[in-house]
Amino acid sequence: MSAQDINVKIREARLDEFENIGRLNYAVKQEGGDPLYELLYSEVNAEDWLNFKWIQGKKNAAASGQAKVIVAEYPTTGQIVGLAAIPKCNPAHPPKAASSFVPGFNVSEYKKMEAPRLAWKNQMLSVYGGFLFVEPLAVVKEYRGEGIGKRLMEFIIDEGKKQNLNIAVAPVFKTDAIGFYKKLGFVEVAKPFMLADDTVKGPNHMLLEISKPAPTDS
Ligand SMILES: CC(C)(COP(=O)(O)OP(=O)(O)OC[C@H]1O[C@@H](n2cnc3c(N)ncnc32)[C@H](O)[C@@H]1OP(=O)(O)O)[C@@H](O)C(=O)NCCC(=O)NCCS
Repeated sequence: MSAQDINVKIREARLDEFENIGRLNYAVKQEGGDPLYELLYSEVNAEDWLNFKWIQGKKNAAASGQAKVIVAEYPTTGQIVGLAAIPKCNPAHPPKAASSFVPGFNVSEYKKMEAPRLAWKNQMLSVYGGFLFVEPLAVVKEYRGEGIGKRLMEFIIDEGKKQNLNIAVAPVFKTDAIGFYKKLGFVEVAKPFMLADDTVKGPNHMLLEISKPAPTDS
């Protein structure tokens, strides 16, 4: 049965739901594949990370309008079975290196790994002027394959159209979501966000173009 058939509700998350969806996000991240998060997991307590970084960061971003956090609610149970966040990258809020870290975390190692992604986002800003960055997108394992991820992305694509902003993703999970994004019209646009020394392999950044870049004088 598809998400359309079962009438899964896609909506913005309420602020009182962030602890719950932080836990959902953490469970999906634990499946592994994203080197940034694997670095986090090896060094810090999960509860600390959830309370300190993810929940606080996303709550602040949502409350200030710099990000939207979207959930998929299952109709029969009311359970949250999927989530997505779309921080808006625009010249007024250029991406910055993460600044709030939990005690004991290896900040310099994290920043080294994060640097290529930041550089890529800044490059995107200089070309397109603004975009929505999908991070994270996650559907609870038992509910995958029912069209819920697609419904979450359709909500995001509508949001991009409303705001005339492109949509970017960096699919880095072992589950390999590249095919999923391609079905939605995304194309691979950038070199892998990965370590400069090539010790970790990963797929490319992907973009769904909604707004064309302004022509440059050359
Ligand atoms: C990627 C993810 C969000 C997809 O959600 P989902 O609800 O299972 O996907 P859907 O059921 O909506 O699939 C929509 C379409 O994409 C296809 N698809 C789903 N996952 C795919 C994959 N990994 N590769 C290729 N195609 C895929 C489906 O077959 C379906 O095709 P159809 O429309 O022709 O029937 C989910 O697998 C997930 O949470 N994975 C772990 C976290 C992750 O990888 N997140 C993305 C990283 S940025």
